[in-house]
Amino acid sequence: MGTGYTEAQLRAAAADAVRAPSLHNTQPWRFRLRDGAIEVCVDPTRRLPATDPSGWGTRIAGGAALFNLRLSLAVAGAPATVRLRPYPAEPDVLARLVPELPRRPTPTELSLYAAVPRRFSNRAPFWPDPVPADARWRLGEAARAEQCWLELVIGVTAVNAFAEIARSAHRVLERDPAYRAERAAWVRTEPAPDGVPARAGGPQTEPQDLLPSRGFGGLDRAPGRDFEPEPLVAVLGATGNTVVDQVLAGQALQRVLLTATDAGLAVSMLSQPIEVSGAREALRLSLGRFGTPQMVMRIGYGQPGVATPRRSVDEVLDVAVAPG
Ligand SMILES: Cc1cc2nc3c(=O)[nH]c(=O)nc-3n(C[C@H](O)[C@H](O)[C@H](O)COP(=O)(O)O)c2cc1C
Repeated sequence: MGTGYTEAQLRAAAADAVRAPSLHNTQPWRFRLRDGAIEVCVDPTRRLPATDPSGWGTRIAGGAALFNLRLSLAVAGAPATVRLRPYPAEPDVLARLVPELPRRPTPTELSLYAAVPRRFSNRAPFWPDPVPADARWRLGEAARAEQCWLELVIGVTAVNAFAEIARSAHRVLERDPAYRAERAAWVRTEPAPDGVPARAGGPQTEPQDLLPSRGFGGLDRAPGRDFEPEPLVAVLGATGNTVVDQVLAGQALQRVLLTATDAGLAVSMLSQPIEVSGAREALRLSLGRFGTPQMVMRIGYGQPGVATPRRSVDEVLDVAVAPG
């Protein structure tokens, strides 16, 4: 055919795709060539059965990796047309990318791409500086460009109401020993290609904290309230909660995160209120929104984040797949 992607293009784009975030840095994705198309798949062996029984987190992570992949191909001059969930009988195949007409990358694609290696989760306290209106607007636009919405939780009352929902979800999850064991199994104190290094896990959680942190090992803290008293909380949502909605939300998440990085902002994710269905519904009602919340972010200015490891591209590629 001569119009498909090559293995070299797949490799180069997959190296950018794996920089995407994932629950506990499990990296639950695989990439392959089939008939000249690049396919993004969930790796079911890297799912977290206690933390993520429905597989929602694998599809958010897969969508985020897909966004990086799209960006990488576009910047290399080989942009893709994407079909989500192309095979009804293969739900783990999230997307199929075929080349569209070559064109030059747009300025937005170039600046988002430059942010890929600079984006890290930042779980430390942020500085008190407010996020300016134009940056807030850009974050909302980033979500809308990927067919999702971003709702900023503004004002002390709204932030406190959100914090109550998040803390109660956190308590529900923490009661489950399997959930706690799974998290402990993905905290790394020695070098490893996956999992959350303890040094990136943020400070210990203290009872006075407004928002619950996941508790990945934890650095020591000075006494007192050091987290920002009124954090900028943003809820990312999709129009529904199908597999396709979740993949769209993953792409939108990555676009929002890269837009934030490009604007000099730091972000941490907190998904406890998404993982507990009652909390997710309470969150949706508190926002007065239709659709489904898919991720929550804390956004502000802070010290640079800490890079976390990734598995090598060789470990996530399936190149020799027979035509399907
Ligand atoms: C679906 C999903 C849920 C996440 N939930 C949380 C969370 O609740 N708390 C947290 O600190 N980080 C959360 N993260 C961030 C991951 O822990 C992080 O992406 C991963 O450790 C890799 O680190 P990086 O983002 O710095 O590349 C989540 C990420 C994804 C994709």
